[in-house]
Amino acid sequence: MAKDMISVTVGAGKVDLVKVTCDLLAVGVFSGGGRNALCDQLDKKLKGAIGRLVKLGDFKGEDKTTAVVYGGDKIGARRVLLVGLGERKKLSLDTLRDAAAVATGKAVKLRARKAVLALHQEALGKKLTSQTVGQALAEGAHFGSYRYDEYMAKSKGGRLNSLKVVIGDAAGDIARQLAKGARIGDAIGTSQSFARTIANRPGNVINPPTLAAATKKMVREAKGLSCVVLDEKQLKAKKMGGILAVGKGSASKPRLIVMKYTPPGRVGGKVPVIGLVGKGVTFDSGGISLKPGSGMQNMKFDMSGGAAVIGAMRAIAAIKPAIRVIGIVPSAENLPSSISYRPGDIITTFSGKTVEVQNTDAEGRLLLCDGLHYAVKQKCDIVIDIATLTGACMVALGKYKGGLMGNNDRLIKALQTASKASGEKIWHLPSGDEYLGEMKSKIADLKNIGSRWGGACTAAAFLSEFVGDTKWAHVDMAGVDMFDGGKKVGSVGSTGFGVRLLTSYVLGAAKG
Ligand code: BES
Ligand code: MN
Ligand code: ZN
Repeated sequence: MAKDMISVTVGAGKVDLVKVTCDLLAVGVFSGGGRNALCDQLDKKLKGAIGRLVKLGDFKGEDKTTAVVYGGDKIGARRVLLVGLGERKKLSLDTLRDAAAVATGKAVKLRARKAVLALHQEALGKKLTSQTVGQALAEGAHFGSYRYDEYMAKSKGGRLNSLKVVIGDAAGDIARQLAKGARIGDAIGTSQSFARTIANRPGNVINPPTLAAATKKMVREAKGLSCVVLDEKQLKAKKMGGILAVGKGSASKPRLIVMKYTPPGRVGGKVPVIGLVGKGVTFDSGGISLKPGSGMQNMKFDMSGGAAVIGAMRAIAAIKPAIRVIGIVPSAENLPSSISYRPGDIITTFSGKTVEVQNTDAEGRLLLCDGLHYAVKQKCDIVIDIATLTGACMVALGKYKGGLMGNNDRLIKALQTASKASGEKIWHLPSGDEYLGEMKSKIADLKNIGSRWGGACTAAAFLSEFVGDTKWAHVDMAGVDMFDGGKKVGSVGSTGFGVRLLTSYVLGAAKG
């Protein structure tokens, strides 16, 4: 039986950072020396222990490096964790979010029950306001403390079951602003961790029906959300031929998960209805166009777009912006069997357009096209889809940034703004007529693969055929969906990418 995830609470408050009792006090330090009032204060109480460490050259404040100094009876903290912020001139929200993640990652490792974050003291200024800093720190605190170990009898290093994080500041007015941001960051951070758990669960645990059940459970616990799940029979009745084709080969039958967020107050007349559509392929073997065996286990993450949408809906419901949002997750398992769809099949999608299947491994677009058409039929003014859609996107951008495509410049810009604020990076790639040309079939309206080149762009062009004139953007998150070690902040497995990006976009759209 699976055990619970680590429970992390994050808040902010006015604290005396010298006196506050905690297992770990994380202090932010820029590289290149310079004054650091808090460090000096602590150093005095610790009889020069920090100064000696720095003098020996054991800690230079370089980005994401840390050093531990043990507390004495003169300060409240049992440990002081120095966290490098890198060069002052490169400071951004990402710096602080990452520093918080590094700090809480250490806190979990050191089995701390309570950690106080004093990372921002030297960083506040015109560029970064206390509220946005509070949000970023809270997001980072959740990101860094997350561990996926629900199926391990004994967690690595014997982690504790809970961690309390306090973002601390000695000034009451700053603490209040930090707390305001931390409440938003806490909602987003817990939702991102939720998305990571859903995505990390293996294919034998998360399939379309259990993904729907997990979503319904989340919706029951949230306030302001409703959820409807269409099962195979209802998908057939609605003629959602794309989702049905992809799901045919599996004993776990496909689902369309639809979540609705209705805000408590009035919505301004000009505020658009947003549709978020996430690819929910719970396992992608490639189907009859079977993938090679090595690395196939990572295709349990092929529902990461869906997890991002479900997580974002959770965060939105907690924050309650004045805007209507519909979350749509078409879900199927792509397996080869005697009843699978096959190369050569011509399917009729929900929109009525027909598609010649030339490769059953290009399944994401076949299920998204039904999800997108559904969003348009629900009268969404703006539709954004997110999907682990193409290996080609990963070839183009590596594992650092997702791809961004779409049919509306303002929407692209708004998403770029959300990307910058959330730290989830995306890069604008082209799409349009040339690419669409490659997706025309000789025997059907469209085919599901293009030529060898520009696979992320041709995939987007295919999707664009299902949104009509609706403003639409597409995020290809292949490559950023998970990480398998190396030089990045956070634990291995799902990154929960998209929860912060989509939530940030929706909060921005609500403000107009
Ligand atoms: N889920 C994959 C894309 C993917 C690959 C995501 C690697 C994450 C990491 C998608 O369904 C797929 O198989 N795409 C094919 C499309 C091709 C057949 C046109 C691909 O990228 O090879
Ligand atoms: Mn595939
Ligand atoms: Zn796939």
